[in-house]
Amino acid sequence: MIIVKNASHLAPQISQWKREGKTIGLVPTMGFFHAGHLALMQEAGKQCNKTVVSIFVNPRQFGPGEDLEKYPRSFDRDAQLAKEAGVDLLFAPTPEEMYPRGYQTSISVQNLSKGLCGQSRPGHFDGVATVVAKLFNLVQPDTAVFGEKDFQQLALLRQMNADLNFGVDIIGHPIVREKDGLAMSSRNQYLDRDERKTAVCLYKALQHGIKKIAESQRIPVVKLIEELQDIVNEGQGCRADYIAVVDPATLESQEVAQKGALVALAVFINDKVRLIDNAIL
Ligand code: PAF
Repeated sequence: MIIVKNASHLAPQISQWKREGKTIGLVPTMGFFHAGHLALMQEAGKQCNKTVVSIFVNPRQFGPGEDLEKYPRSFDRDAQLAKEAGVDLLFAPTPEEMYPRGYQTSISVQNLSKGLCGQSRPGHFDGVATVVAKLFNLVQPDTAVFGEKDFQQLALLRQMNADLNFGVDIIGHPIVREKDGLAMSSRNQYLDRDERKTAVCLYKALQHGIKKIAESQRIPVVKLIEELQDIVNEGQGCRADYIAVVDPATLESQEVAQKGALVALAVFINDKVRLIDNAIL
């Protein structure tokens, strides 16, 4: 596996693969790999001849007071795991490489970044769209694979890809879960033992929503959200940042919850860790 830390070294390798007619699959990540990341890498490997994984804890997508400094990092372990997963190239630029002095451009996907996580994390999705656009330009992938846990991110990146004519085939990979249902996330490692147990309330709430719709077909969203809120509140120290039922394509709020709608939630555990999850009803 080739490890590249700067863009000027990346370009010749990408050009060579393009000349050889190889297709390139990109998995953008912030590192600290878990089974969810490895599944994305395997998917990229299935789709394309060459797999590129980027590791970059992108400062522009963290707000003031968020976890940029303490975000878990483990480069050597990640490199080993990526190698074992059959990744061809690991791109791990520094913040100075991505945002050199004088950098001033930002990409904003206007409507899709307003609701859900966008409300409590202003600027977050501009940071995501900007860094992914840069990665698309640097890696020139045929395909890019993202996890569906970050459903809003995926919707917004699809929109950016279409709006800015990147022409990348964007693939969403289903959420990979722990045995008890907790969605895999690098942030799960902030949880202590008790918090880890209570964090399953996100999954429990989603399962409740799915069951309700299977039984009743259509339920007023206000009522469903109340029930999901109760389940979240049963978790010791759990506080919902939001619980929403939206159209999965437009992310617009729905009044009636029914089959095919997306239920998404973000929950603070002990006001310390913020986790997200979602499911199609
Ligand atoms: O999902 C993530 O890990 C990040 O938001 C991404 C897509 C790598 C951009 O920094």
